[in-house]
Amino acid sequence: MKPIVFSLPGNEDLAHRIAKSIQAELGETIIRRFPDGESYVRVISKVKNRKVIIVCALNNPDEKLLPLYFLSKTLKSSGAECICLVAPYLAYMRQDKVFNEGEGVTSGYFASLLSGFVDSLITIDPHLHRRHSMSEIYSIPCQVIHASPVISAYISEHVINPLLIGPDSESEQWVSEVARNASAPFIVLEKTRLGDKDVNVTVPNLEKFRDHTPVLVDDIISTAQTMIETVKHLKNAGMKAPVCVGVHAVFAGNAYEELKKSGINKIVTCNTIPHLTNGIDVTELISKNSKI
Ligand code: R5P
Repeated sequence: MKPIVFSLPGNEDLAHRIAKSIQAELGETIIRRFPDGESYVRVISKVKNRKVIIVCALNNPDEKLLPLYFLSKTLKSSGAECICLVAPYLAYMRQDKVFNEGEGVTSGYFASLLSGFVDSLITIDPHLHRRHSMSEIYSIPCQVIHASPVISAYISEHVINPLLIGPDSESEQWVSEVARNASAPFIVLEKTRLGDKDVNVTVPNLEKFRDHTPVLVDDIISTAQTMIETVKHLKNAGMKAPVCVGVHAVFAGNAYEELKKSGINKIVTCNTIPHLTNGIDVTELISKNSKI
């Protein structure tokens, strides 16, 4: 029997693309809020003994977690054989240590919650900086897919004479890979985060790259302060307006508007989180490289 693909509200486009690509059926649900704010979930499609895929980008996770849990439990109680969560963006991965006394390592708590109600997880470029593997916190099989091949292809096709710029030393590994596949040079900056919206970056001498188009590449654009700070330095160094590439378009608050008016050339993101900047499609990466 064909697998069946469900989505949480807002994820219909990627769910539809994945279902088409793997020749699966699209599942039908009603997911809404009761007037008092509680979640209502009803599964319309028949799922008995079927492999189920749920597509849900986990940005704004607090409001999505309960509907996702209810959907998963309802599918299981309706006889689904197994549930694979495709969360192209995975939340809470940055809270991976006690930064201040009294804090919890919430990446681990979140992982325990998800591991408790889905059978497997597929995600794209989770923020694995201090952790090296998902199995350190997730107790279910997890598959990590990298967006670097599609980002390299985008840059090769759309940017003339690119210079790739990674925001911090942690990004070096994957920015260097994107650069290699796009046959472009790269540099990595030094970044210090002083607060949620307070970021310091140090940009090296860029004289020899004057003729290049700077391409800022980061895994997450959240407050966009990392990119905005970098754009300022590039401007002062007399560089061209940069292209900003993010895997995950989190764009907290008015971050998108702020980045747009900071003097950039273009903003492009992968469709791991639905956003109007989505210009790089991850469907084939998910359907060809994952075991769904
Ligand atoms: C941090 O280590 C990440 O790789 C990103 O650089 C960071 O999440 C970007 O955050 P923001 O957009 O808030 O500066």
